[in-house]
Amino acid sequence: DVIDVTSITKNGFFTFDPGFMSTASCESSITFIDGDEGVLLHRGYPIEQLAVSSDYLETCYLLLNGELPTPAQKEEFTAEIKKHSAVDPSVANIIKSFKRESHPMAILCSAVAALAAVYNDEIDITDEASRKLTAYRLIGQMPTLSAMVYKHSKGEEFIAPDDSLSYAENYLNMTFGTAGKAPNVSKTIAKAMDRIFVLHADHEQNASTSTVRLSGSSGTNPFAAIAAGISTLWGPAHGGANEAVLKMLEEIGTVENIEACVARAKDKTSGFRLMGFGHRVYKNFDPRAKVMKQTCDEVLAELGLENDPLLAIAKRLEQIALEDPYFISKKLYPNVDFYSGIIMKAIGIPTEMFTVIFALGRAVGWYSHWNEMVSGPYKIGRPRQQYTGSPKRDYPNK
Ligand code: ACO
Repeated sequence: DVIDVTSITKNGFFTFDPGFMSTASCESSITFIDGDEGVLLHRGYPIEQLAVSSDYLETCYLLLNGELPTPAQKEEFTAEIKKHSAVDPSVANIIKSFKRESHPMAILCSAVAALAAVYNDEIDITDEASRKLTAYRLIGQMPTLSAMVYKHSKGEEFIAPDDSLSYAENYLNMTFGTAGKAPNVSKTIAKAMDRIFVLHADHEQNASTSTVRLSGSSGTNPFAAIAAGISTLWGPAHGGANEAVLKMLEEIGTVENIEACVARAKDKTSGFRLMGFGHRVYKNFDPRAKVMKQTCDEVLAELGLENDPLLAIAKRLEQIALEDPYFISKKLYPNVDFYSGIIMKAIGIPTEMFTVIFALGRAVGWYSHWNEMVSGPYKIGRPRQQYTGSPKRDYPNK
């Protein structure tokens, strides 16, 4: 018989845990989160230290290999990433075939799935060297694909990757450059972009990473598994929240309207939530949000936008929510998506591209988890269910 919370059948003991509130799906040595204390460690290193002292490619190496690289290892890794940053013309054509108004996440998802078609014959998931090549291709091509998606939406020519630039500069160059003209990217802006990538690099078994693992557990092509992760990330309860935060701040419009917005978020019948607030695991400040807020101040100061009205609304909204008994009692704090959109907007990135940038940064996390899984013994993921349908019945005679 089905029992409310758990069931014991002749095949064993089953737990019923919708939303995986308390079920671990795997063991992992990549990322540690203490949600009560607001701690996030990658391979043991605090995210605050990585955000300030490391850079994205070094963090990628750390996530992939478990240790920080030596200078020689970093140089070799960077060279491999650059070597694999060009996108196959067939994928470029796929991007061009979409209507310009298509959501960038839909195009990115299709483009990464298309990499499965380009490389399928060369991929052997049981071979470490083949998996490494897949990592180089993915991390190398994510900025190129993301920039192409943007260029397509603008109806502009694609810009080829430039090996002389850093990872973040190259992304900004391919996004904002035009043929023969490099954009004016300051060191602060490039550093902020790189930091956004670092802050998004991994976050253990979130919905998109779990999707990549579940999809990959069937032995599928890793690019296909990552395309599934991109689909999951798009939703507003996950990575799509950065886009939703900016739209919410714009809708609020002035500081005077904040109280009404907070009241609406507390009203369960409104169906509205304060975007960029709350987290399944953090019941304290999201440490990424703290770094993001500081970066936001730096970038806006550099650009002379300290008095940006959206920043003022965001700061006041945060303050009001943090003092509100509803948000206090439910332990709802700003998450990584709360301030990232303001930085990206200040850099000139359109709102619909925000989640693409999240995906760009997160690609290494998805890959690292897939790689960790397929490197050891694993089983196909196959959740069970509580059946609530009709009992057995006979098909009616006609
Ligand atoms: N605004 C108002 N109320 C909220 C919010 C919010 N942002 N988030 C949670 N709550 C309330 C819920 O209504 C619920 O109240 P109840 O206990 O009275 O029913 C309680 O807090 C717990 O919320 P759940 O939805 O059960 O928490 P869950 O862990 O399932 O969801 C989530 C977490 C999806 C992040 C949620 O907080 C949310 O929707 N936040 C807004 C979207 C967002 O910012 N997403 C980005 C998350 S970070 C990331 O993916 C990168």
